[in-house]
Amino acid sequence: MRRVPEPFKIKMVEPLKVVSREEREEALKRAGYNLFALRADEVYIDLLTDSGTGAMSDNQWAGLMLGDEAYSGSRNFYNLAKAVKDIFGYEYTIPTHQGRGAEQVLFPILIKKPGQYVISNMHFDTTKAHVEISGGRAVNMVHEKAFDTTTYDPFKGDFDLEKTEAFIKEQGAENIAFILITITCNSAGGQPVSMANIKAVSELGKKYGIRVFIDAARYAENAYFIKTREEGYADKSIKEIIKEMFSYAEGFTMSAKKDAIVNIGGILGIKEDKDLYTQASSRTVPMEGFVTYGGLAGRDMEALARGLYEGIDFNYLDYRINQVAYLGERLREAGIPIQYPTGGHAVFVDAKKICPHIPFHQFPAQALGNELYLESGVRGVEVGSFLLGRDPETGEPLESPLELLRLTIPRRVYTYDHMDVVAEGLIAVKERAHTLKGLEFTYEPKILRHFTARLKPVE
Ligand code: F0G
Repeated sequence: MRRVPEPFKIKMVEPLKVVSREEREEALKRAGYNLFALRADEVYIDLLTDSGTGAMSDNQWAGLMLGDEAYSGSRNFYNLAKAVKDIFGYEYTIPTHQGRGAEQVLFPILIKKPGQYVISNMHFDTTKAHVEISGGRAVNMVHEKAFDTTTYDPFKGDFDLEKTEAFIKEQGAENIAFILITITCNSAGGQPVSMANIKAVSELGKKYGIRVFIDAARYAENAYFIKTREEGYADKSIKEIIKEMFSYAEGFTMSAKKDAIVNIGGILGIKEDKDLYTQASSRTVPMEGFVTYGGLAGRDMEALARGLYEGIDFNYLDYRINQVAYLGERLREAGIPIQYPTGGHAVFVDAKKICPHIPFHQFPAQALGNELYLESGVRGVEVGSFLLGRDPETGEPLESPLELLRLTIPRRVYTYDHMDVVAEGLIAVKERAHTLKGLEFTYEPKILRHFTARLKPVE
């Protein structure tokens, strides 16, 4: 098991609170068996998300002091736009409050009539929601190798190109609003998309006159996988790889809370289409804020401009990806099934295999996550049928192809020792997994139910 040491030392610490088993039991009951409803200080190691939870560097904190809070034309905006031009090769930068801010600006421009499809390898849940709010329909075209958790494949986030083309032919290109390449493919396990696949999707777009965009939340991690796994890229720098990846799209929406290692922020990047930029600008003003701040303070934009560079540093990425792989390997050694190989930002535990006795509509991964919290104070998150929700037309519960417990690793925050605590907790839970009970609703919201639903164990 390769342990790549942390390429940083620690200057400031944040104490972790140890919570007793009794306190955890009480907290979980109060939270309606939904880990989202816990108070963060009831959690020991928080692996709910890697979004906005990273640790900024001294360089980024220093940048905060240089915030220029001018309403228009802040110098930090120009620093950010310069970084985007340098790293992605894109002409236009619109800062947004976070990833979904960029989505709410862009998607309604691209979805021209109700019912148009947006094709992605896999939409993230709030991204799907923005497609639907804009009148579109979100379809996922990830290759089925993504659903076989046990077999190694270097690029499980790839589009199924044949299926995608068949869908375009069947529906007619005029009924496809755009294609969104999600890198890495979060919902399939943080799995990368190969350069060959990105290029092929781009060519498919050209062939049918369909615009291609990138959901760039974890673009740097994706570039690391291309460098280390795809033939022909070993000697290219991360930056060269990123430039090539983004040359195949005409714009990106980015949650900067992931690979750009800031606590808040997003970007809408546009390669060269001035008309698109003009339309997006006029939506940004009422939705996010004036186009040179888009919902961010000047200081936030400075931290983001600096974070973009730190997030593409090879030594950082080598440590980052290998810390996630380390946790995955510890679990695999103990016979715990995970999405293999591990992805960029998280270990996804295959709860369907650990709790085969819990049916999908009683949410095996949620039950497993709750038990892990009770065992060791570690908070993960369900990515399965609980998150997927119901068929909007029939109201029937949808069965997710995978029932996963995502253990999401914040950037530069936890150590290898923390990973050991997580592994040991889950190993203990696995021993009694057959005794775990499924869950049923006591309150079920209509959309994005997993955030606020309340549950109880099935008797
Ligand atoms: N796209 C992807 C692939 C994401 O993973 C996320 C957020 C977004 C878009 C939206 O960005 O949160 O800044 O508005 N993912 C987080 C997660 C929340 O936990 O995976 P946002």
